[in-house]
Amino acid sequence: MDGLRGGAGEGVWVRLGAGPEEDAAALRRAGALLRRGGLVAFPTETVYGLGADALNPQAVARIFAAKGRPADNPLIVHVTGVEQAGPEVVAHWPPVARRLAERFWPGPLTLVLPAGPRVPAAVRAGLPTVAVRCPAHPVAQALIAAAGTPVAAPSANRSGRPSPTRAEDVWADLGPHLDLLLDAGPVPVGVESTVIDVTAWPPRLLRPGGLPVEELEAALGVSLAPPPALAQGAAAPAPGMKYRHYAPEAPVVLAGDADQGAGFLRRWLEEGQRVALVGCREDLEAVLRRTGADARWLALEDEPARPAGPLIALDLGPRARPDLHARRLFRALRAADAAGSTRVLALAVPEEGLGRAVMNRLRKAAAGGEVPGREREARAEGRDRL
Ligand code: TXA
Ligand code: MG
Repeated sequence: MDGLRGGAGEGVWVRLGAGPEEDAAALRRAGALLRRGGLVAFPTETVYGLGADALNPQAVARIFAAKGRPADNPLIVHVTGVEQAGPEVVAHWPPVARRLAERFWPGPLTLVLPAGPRVPAAVRAGLPTVAVRCPAHPVAQALIAAAGTPVAAPSANRSGRPSPTRAEDVWADLGPHLDLLLDAGPVPVGVESTVIDVTAWPPRLLRPGGLPVEELEAALGVSLAPPPALAQGAAAPAPGMKYRHYAPEAPVVLAGDADQGAGFLRRWLEEGQRVALVGCREDLEAVLRRTGADARWLALEDEPARPAGPLIALDLGPRARPDLHARRLFRALRAADAAGSTRVLALAVPEEGLGRAVMNRLRKAAAGGEVPGREREARAEGRDRL
């Protein structure tokens, strides 16, 4: 068949877009695989997902095995709409949840709701709740419809790695584990969905993501509550509250301003490190000006040569474009690895709109290696707790 590429194991990589009939055939095949308990990776508008039949415990177990995911981290159940999340899946829809779904679905919003009786314990990590989302990507929609069952899908990366925004990233992490990879090119949003717990009032923000918190709060008319403190030994209420996440292989430091960034860069270059500088364009330029260092600017579309030299600059886009920062973030972290970088120096982006999600991922990738700039330090009291 055209567009088919064989791979290690049973995995098959299908590039969509060859034609409407080819695409329809690939989606039928993917739907049938899901119904038989298979693993299908597919694009959503946020990141690529690793899908299995959400109501089949054996299929769900394969997700955890393929990702190397701890069993106490629950999965998001993907549906074609509120109708597919009936009482067997979601025991009860609070009116506020229904309103949010009407307003923001399909889209990058995940709602944590009381679980119905058919959701396997493994999907919920034993919690009494289930996370549901209706993705906006047409391939995701068509796949769930073809499967005729809700689809459990975490991001399609090995646990702890940056989330995949291209089919190539999925293949690199999970190729041999997949029955099928549906490739529809790079995803538009680039960070995962916003996760909120609507079993509480006000709803709790468990993970900032592709739907800006400001939009949610405007629709709700209240501020979202912060996540509950993590009880010892409990299932993590949101990713990254318990585990290192989103991280490339090289250690990441997150610098709050150009002065801090320049300090790290000077020291690392003296030590002979191969540094990947990640940030918005104006800040990258400011750090390079301060240090007088010479960087190779990499377009994110390019595959970086390995090793790429002592300093590469990975441009997330102009400061005023948080949408581009989100779209390019995970790609940049993966490019740092591909270039053989030994250190990643990330520069803080403005923390508004999608910038909240970007900074949340950068903090988790840095896992404590955040150095607030002077201005940020002054504001640290009021900083959000995610
Ligand atoms: O955009 C996305 O959300 C992507 C695409 C594929 O849809 N999926 C995704 O899944 O990011 P994942 O597994 O990487 O992150 C989902 C997170 C889980 O780690 C978990 O902490 C939280 O959502 N979650 C899932 N079920 C939950 C529940 N019942 N209560 C609280 N949090 C839950
Ligand atoms: Mg994930």
